[in-house]
Amino acid sequence: MPGLTLTGWGKGLPERVVTNDELSRTLDTSDEWIAERTGIRERRVGGSASTLGLAAARAALGVANVEPAGIDAILLATTTPDRLIPATAPLIQEALGAQCPAVDLNAACSGFMYGLWIARGLLATGSKRILLIGAEHLSRWVDWDDRAMAVLFGDGAGAVVLESTDDRGDLLGFDVGSDGSLMHLISCEHGGTIQMDGKETFRRAVRIMVDSAQRALKDASLSIEDVALVVPHQANQRIIQAACDRLGVDIDRAVSVIDRYGNTSSASIPLALVVALDEGRIKPGDVLLLTGFGAGMTWASAVLRWPG
Ligand code: UT7
Repeated sequence: MPGLTLTGWGKGLPERVVTNDELSRTLDTSDEWIAERTGIRERRVGGSASTLGLAAARAALGVANVEPAGIDAILLATTTPDRLIPATAPLIQEALGAQCPAVDLNAACSGFMYGLWIARGLLATGSKRILLIGAEHLSRWVDWDDRAMAVLFGDGAGAVVLESTDDRGDLLGFDVGSDGSLMHLISCEHGGTIQMDGKETFRRAVRIMVDSAQRALKDASLSIEDVALVVPHQANQRIIQAACDRLGVDIDRAVSVIDRYGNTSSASIPLALVVALDEGRIKPGDVLLLTGFGAGMTWASAVLRWPG
């Protein structure tokens, strides 16, 4: 079966930076509390899933040196589409000038990873090149008077170009799953705002992420010692730390961008990946462990060998 390789990547971010100090002016909170409890210092606010996703997509196509006409499918992971109908992916397809199927998928913060799972199947069954985007406009669905939620989230997007290979490819192992019995932990009703049982989510998240990461490593017949860099979902620095501790990996080997972007849900893993690349932290041949969890609850992990 054809495998998968990653040939392009990019990010899209609103310009507006909202610092913890700025939030402290209207909410009963402080930079100290937010930074200590979450690791977040600031977040980006603005744009929309389509504009941020489009920016990330253009950047990724540029790195891959691919024209929009060369894309076989666009997958947009988002929990915050521009509107209920139509989906947001066709807007990005139209703006790019691509002629291919385009669809939204929602697996909350695991959305990008679910997209990778679906893309793997499409590439194994005949597609040649897929544009996978994670884009979120969470600021629209946050109650800015609720200090427990308002400090956590940010807007942004990350995108990758995935291509089929004749050999096994660079996706070495995978794990994906969901447990709808935990749907009450994080939710947002139509017309409502994001609600979360933070403590219980935290407790579950660490265990779920670690178990999923270990299953993906097993699937790849690798161990944590083989992993050069962990790219985790960016929900809380303390979750990243606890997951690293349980996986037995030094925190220096995990990418963290939560201080600058907060929790960007479907965009968080591709954003972290792109920042790590921009900072020269990933070399050809490196084994990466991508792992995430989110509302649903959903989870997914991938073991990826960096191409080149
Ligand atoms: O990507 C989706 C998945 N999401 C997550 O994984 C998030 C998981 N959960 C978390 O990251 C943490 O539970 C939070 C960061 C959401 C909260 O941290 P916590 O340490 O669990 O705090 P808490 O909710 O237990 O609240 C502790 C105290 C409370 O006050 P009392 O009852 O002890 O007097 C809160 O009212 O902190 C208070 N508090 C705040 N204080 C200042 C809650 N939010 C704030 C705030 N500023 N922004």
